[in-house]
Amino acid sequence: MRVIIERDADAVSLRAARIVADQIRRKPSSVLGLATGGTPLGTYRELVRMRQEEGLSFSRVTTFNLDEYVGLSPSHPQSYRYFMQRNLFDHLDIDPMRTHVPDGLAADYESYCRQYEQRIEDAGGIDLQLLGVGRDGHIAFNEPGSSLGSRTRLKTLTSETLGDNARFFAGQEQVPRLAVTMGVGTILESRRCLLLAVGESKAEAVRATVEGPVTSQVTASALQLHREVLVLLDEPAAGRLQRREYYQEVERAQTLLETGQLRALGIGTTLDGGSHGDGSRTGGSHNGDGASSTHRGD
Ligand code: PGA
Repeated sequence: MRVIIERDADAVSLRAARIVADQIRRKPSSVLGLATGGTPLGTYRELVRMRQEEGLSFSRVTTFNLDEYVGLSPSHPQSYRYFMQRNLFDHLDIDPMRTHVPDGLAADYESYCRQYEQRIEDAGGIDLQLLGVGRDGHIAFNEPGSSLGSRTRLKTLTSETLGDNARFFAGQEQVPRLAVTMGVGTILESRRCLLLAVGESKAEAVRATVEGPVTSQVTASALQLHREVLVLLDEPAAGRLQRREYYQEVERAQTLLETGQLRALGIGTTLDGGSHGDGSRTGGSHNGDGASSTHRGD
């Protein structure tokens, strides 16, 4: 895992949007996994700005959302389809047929969930999965106790999640009890994961995700098993991390690598003070934010 600590929520949003935009520029036909909730809103705002002011094109992008409430139609103002349309899709040049949000009104969930998995596979798999984390450590709606190998399925929401999401409804009793959600196993198959967390209320979930044991009681901790995860935090969300200074040290080294200052890292020099070559890229490849590289703090 690579952990990046930004000074505030806005900086998290800008950096996350830049990572998504870089992904799209590198591969215009990217398949993105998208999340709802308060956390990614700033990221979506910035992506819309990039579309409008910088011409970032989503015309060949395909998207798959993580989850949807059972019982809500796409036009229900609290449905995740509605959220995605209003906050992102309606402002992009994306082909509506390429945007997928699980169906909250499916008649046969068993076959519907299998189909959703199949569509992801048919699209070539998810290149970059955006994730938030719940206070109970869930990713998507994989509540504590979810199998770490789980696939898209129905899930019963915990009372903590119902309480957290009541703010978007007229009251807690209005929040649907069930959701259809990608599984932890589905998420782990994405090529890259980008987990965002902001605010002090997420600090404990972030600590458990990054530094706790891998456990189905904190499904986000399963990301420790993934080969390429970037965890992007603001200061308050990082507040309980024990190794925070080390993560910052990793970022300093990463910056030196990115700017080619290899000698500052001891690359191309020997312990007796001599040097090899001109200090050019002997340290291996580096491809920027969370992309594959020899050194990326994971
Ligand atoms: P939030 O939700 O972004 O609204 O905090 C995150 C989550 O529950 O996964």
